[in-house]
Amino acid sequence: MRERIAAELLAARERTAALTDCVEDPDLTAQHSPLMSPLVWDLAHIGNQEELWLLRNIGGRDPMRPEIDPLYDAFEHPRAERPTLPLLPPHEARAYAREVRGRVLDLLDASPMEGDPLLSGGFAFGMIAQHEQQHDETMLITHQLRSGPAALTAPAPPPAPADADALPAEILIPAGPFTMGTDTEPWALDNERPAHRIELDDFLLDTTPVRNGAYQRFIEDGGYRDERWWTPAGWEHRIRADLTAPLFWSREGGQWLRRRFGVTEPVPEDEPVLHVSWYEADAYARWAGRRLPTEAEWEKAARHDPVSGRSRRYPWGDGDPGPEHANLGQRHLRPAAAGSYPAGASPYGVRQLMGDVWEWTASDLRPYPGFRAWPYKEYSEVFFGPEYKVLRGGCFAVAPVACRGTFRNWDYPIRRQIFAGFRTARDPERG
Ligand code: AVJ
Ligand code: FE
Repeated sequence: MRERIAAELLAARERTAALTDCVEDPDLTAQHSPLMSPLVWDLAHIGNQEELWLLRNIGGRDPMRPEIDPLYDAFEHPRAERPTLPLLPPHEARAYAREVRGRVLDLLDASPMEGDPLLSGGFAFGMIAQHEQQHDETMLITHQLRSGPAALTAPAPPPAPADADALPAEILIPAGPFTMGTDTEPWALDNERPAHRIELDDFLLDTTPVRNGAYQRFIEDGGYRDERWWTPAGWEHRIRADLTAPLFWSREGGQWLRRRFGVTEPVPEDEPVLHVSWYEADAYARWAGRRLPTEAEWEKAARHDPVSGRSRRYPWGDGDPGPEHANLGQRHLRPAAAGSYPAGASPYGVRQLMGDVWEWTASDLRPYPGFRAWPYKEYSEVFFGPEYKVLRGGCFAVAPVACRGTFRNWDYPIRRQIFAGFRTARDPERG
């Protein structure tokens, strides 16, 4: 267990370093978008949360720099305000995070992994490794929003799908109960708990996320100009924000182009659509005569094993994600073509539920029956309610440690700088 924890902490820190060492200091302190913090804020916030939860709460140590706590409390200062704060400059932020980490590794050697519920199963350490990886994804979004030439080195493209053309467009998930959420996953966060039985009707779900090619047909068919496809709030936002295509897309010489980490390239038709808001996903689904799946439908398709009747950790089973299962961990700075990763398919044959693009669901973020905020209300509880929509499955920027069949992400329905796409569902004809 200690080795696993140390390896996850190290992997997170290597990624943090890669995301912050590839630009000069002015790029770290600049605000690249009012939606995002300066990168140097994320860097020190990562160290500050690690200090708070591990050194102070578990280790009982005194604060290292109590005066900086309010600067890095996400609830004290909205993102737009953060560049005006007296933040630690890059060299101090790095030194602070490094100092915290050194002490955490000493604490890890010395702490028991039981007794305190924060320690059991190494939970607090796992929570902190996930927290750093979540901010690494946030920093990757900042890189995508940043203008100017590419800063990140381009990795190899994802593998081409072998049998995408032979796949059915949709798959029937038969009616019946399944277990949603978890009691047993040691590093699951509070909103994933507790496990509970849910009864669902049968439904049909897209085999893969919706592709750019299909989304272009929605655009060309006037989908953005036809109020019929939009909810009232979605239409109002469509007009006010003047949405006409996914974020980062542009039209040149009869062709759709997109900007991706500083490079402009043709939009690949076979790739899952990325950078659409919930409102756009919902409108596309209605245009297609379909709907977004609920969060429960999504999780049943991803976890339910019809042979054993139990829910598994991942679509492919209980084993940890490998490169053959899913496009995760920033290995490729893009989604893989729809239909990729046959080894990652669910028992029903649904593909790419994990990785590639976050998938918008129809559901608002709500607590499961029996939810208990733990270890802090500000992780989930303060966000419960109708303002946030749930996203599932992770994306190419999500690390395996923060990716599970039970993992729940959420955001406002207008958001599209996040790495979000979607798949659609429908009810079978009944009669
Ligand atoms: C769960 C991804 C919505 O980034 O706002 C990071 C994760 N919570 N620090 C976010 C989180 C506290 C959170 N999301
Ligand atoms: Fe945070």
